[in-house]
Amino acid sequence: MAAERLSTRHLLGIKDINRNDIELIFETADNFKGVINRPIKKVPSLRDITIANIFFENSTRTKLSFELAEKRLSADVINFAASSSSVSKGETLIDTVNNILAMKVDMVVMRHPYAGAGVFLSRHINAQIVNAGDGAHEHPTQALLDAFSIREKLGDLAGKKVVIVGDILHSRVAISNILCLKMLGAEVMVCGPTTLIPRHIHELGVKVEHNLMKALNWCDVANMLRIQLERQDIKYFPSQREYAMMYGLNKEILDGLDKEIIVMHPGPINRGVEITSDVADSKQSIILDQVENGVAVRMAVLYLLAAQRD
Ligand code: CP
Repeated sequence: MAAERLSTRHLLGIKDINRNDIELIFETADNFKGVINRPIKKVPSLRDITIANIFFENSTRTKLSFELAEKRLSADVINFAASSSSVSKGETLIDTVNNILAMKVDMVVMRHPYAGAGVFLSRHINAQIVNAGDGAHEHPTQALLDAFSIREKLGDLAGKKVVIVGDILHSRVAISNILCLKMLGAEVMVCGPTTLIPRHIHELGVKVEHNLMKALNWCDVANMLRIQLERQDIKYFPSQREYAMMYGLNKEILDGLDKEIIVMHPGPINRGVEITSDVADSKQSIILDQVENGVAVRMAVLYLLAAQRD
C-alpha cells in the first residue's frame, strides 16, 4: 500500500519523486482508468481548481491529454500557446506567468524548450508546477504513463528488461524513463549510434548496446524514440535512410526474435525511420494504450498535487 500523499508540491522531474510517489500515482491512475471508461467520464474532484496549460513548444499528445485529464476532474482550464501570444513581443517567462496567475490560477502545466524552466518558475511563483517536458531534460508524466503501461501488460516491473532505442542524447523521455524504470526495479538498456548516446549514461545504471539485434534479443520491451532533428545542431549520422537501416524496427526483425516483445513509442512517430507502419500498428505495439493511459496517469498526478494544497 503506497503512502497517502505525494512527497512533493510540484512535479518537476522523476528525479524529485520517490518510489512511494510512483506507486501512489499508479494506484490512483488505476481508479481513474475505471472512471474514464465509464459512460459518465467525469468526477468533481478539482472543481475549485483553475489550471493553466502553457506550451512554449509544440505538442499534440501531452497538451490534449492534460487538458482532457483536467476536464475529467472538473477543473477550470485555460490554454496558452506561446506562438500566438505576447511572448513574440518580448514578454518574459515570469511576466507571462505572473499575468496568467493574476487571473487566480492554482496550477501551471508547462512545456518549454529550455531544461530547468519548470524549476526556475517554481522558485519565482506561488502556483504548483507540472513539467510537461523541458528541453532535453525531463518529461515526467511521459515516463509515468510508459511505466504504467508496461505494468498493465507485464505486471510488476521488477526484473523486466526495457531497451530504449534511438536519440538518447536529446531525449527528455529517455532520461525520465530511465529514472522511473530503475526506481521500480526494471533493468534498462539504451541502444543507438555512439553519437546519440550521452558519454556518461552508464552512471545512471543502464547498459549500453550499439547493436539493435542484440538489444532486441535481450529485452522484454522496446521503447523506440524519434530522432529529435529540432534539437540537433550538427549531423549525428549520415542520413535518415542509413539510420533506419541500422536502428529502425521493422516487422521482419520483430517476427525473427526468439520471444514476443512489447513495442512502445512516446510519439510523434516518424513512420519508416525508427519504426515501420506494420510494427507501429501490430498487436505487439502498445502505442495507443500509452496514449489512453496518459489521461488516467495525468488525472492521478493533478489530483494528488491538488491534495497537497490542503
Ligand atoms: N509524447 C509527447 O510528448 O508527444 P507530444 O510532443 O505530441 O506532446
